Amino acid sequence: MKILMVCLGNICRSPLAHGILERLSEDEGLQWEIDSAGTGGWHVGAPPDHRSVAIAKNYGVDISGQCCRKFEVDDFDTYDYIFVMDYSNLNDVKALARSDEDHKKVSLFLKNDIVPDPYYDDSQFDPVYKMVEKRCREIIVEFNSPG
Ligand code: 4NP
Repeated sequence: MKILMVCLGNICRSPLAHGILERLSEDEGLQWEIDSAGTGGWHVGAPPDHRSVAIAKNYGVDISGQCCRKFEVDDFDTYDYIFVMDYSNLNDVKALARSDEDHKKVSLFLKNDIVPDPYYDDSQFDPVYKMVEKRCREIIVEFNSPG
């Protein structure tokens, strides 16, 4: 299973989803490949935002080694599922889809809600972490059940 997490900057939300799902899938002994990317390219090559690194560290997950990259069309070929954090990400990624197959791979990470962007509000990193972790645990169960 190959899963790509996408947000706007690839420094706050998607690195958390990437790191948490990677950790949980490893703990389950699953051979999943997880990565993350941003629809914007401002931070390419940078590590995640220090506030995401710190909140993840608080919960025992190390995301400090991640490196920001921009979403690219080839990602549709590489990944089975592309999870986006909000509707703007959804529009931006879907605008690059070349086929029905590409479109079908893209969905909101939270089934019927968005993960709010915490970039301008330090107090949002903890709630964002918790909401991302909860959904990652659901994904492990949903995608790892037989049949
Ligand atoms: P993210 O948050 O999409 O969760 O990584 C953002 C990070 C940076 C910017 C916007 C959102 N920015 O405009 O630089």
